[in-house]
Amino acid sequence: MPYGDRWRKMRRATHDNLNIREAQIYKPMQEEEASRLLSYFLRDPDDWEQHFRRTAASTAMGAIYGRPLVDSSTDAMVAHINELVHTLTRSATPGAHLVEVFPSMLYIPECFAKWKRDGKKLHKYWSTVLHDFTMEVQHKAQSGKSLPCLVANLLENSDKYDMSRHEIAWLAGMLVFAGSETVTTFLNF
Ligand code: HEM
Repeated sequence: MPYGDRWRKMRRATHDNLNIREAQIYKPMQEEEASRLLSYFLRDPDDWEQHFRRTAASTAMGAIYGRPLVDSSTDAMVAHINELVHTLTRSATPGAHLVEVFPSMLYIPECFAKWKRDGKKLHKYWSTVLHDFTMEVQHKAQSGKSLPCLVANLLENSDKYDMSRHEIAWLAGMLVFAGSETVTTFLNF
């Protein structure tokens, strides 16, 4: 995202919700995830890489979406998020698209550029998925069942942050992305 008003408001929303003080809220959830990781290791040590991946995604999702930890639907969501991480990593790999080397290709009409159509399709698909994740938090918040998390806070203060549902959905998804692949890689070292 280029620097600008939207960039600044998203950064502010992120910093307000993931600073050192707010991070204390997520400690119990992180400790629980760490215990769960150890139990997975004992049960199925060979699949350790997968356990790290799941733990990283699940912890990030706890902070961002306030997912309950023991919940089979969480695993489906983790699988979804991991799919997003995979798609984004593949798309952003240097050299994946010639347009990075020849920026003038941006002016090629969509009907001649499959990569543009693919990008649009992916954006539409992920907008729907991320919107659904966000709406789930909203429904839980309305029935008083949401756990403290970044999305609940942004929805509650959307006026203060001047953010649309679409922006909240994408910020949340990108934060899970930022916090999943990085942590998985780090744990794998
Ligand atoms: C071991 C784990 C992690 C590593 C190695 C890592 C690495 C980095 C690096 C190198 C940057 C600076 C990028 C730049 O400005 O060029 C960054 C920024 C950022 N990371 Fe991480 N990160 C990790 C975990 C996380 C987690 C768990 C989250 C949130 C859930 C997160 C959210 C962010 C955000 C929001 C920024 C932008 C900060 C700003 O510009 O104000 N990261 N990270």
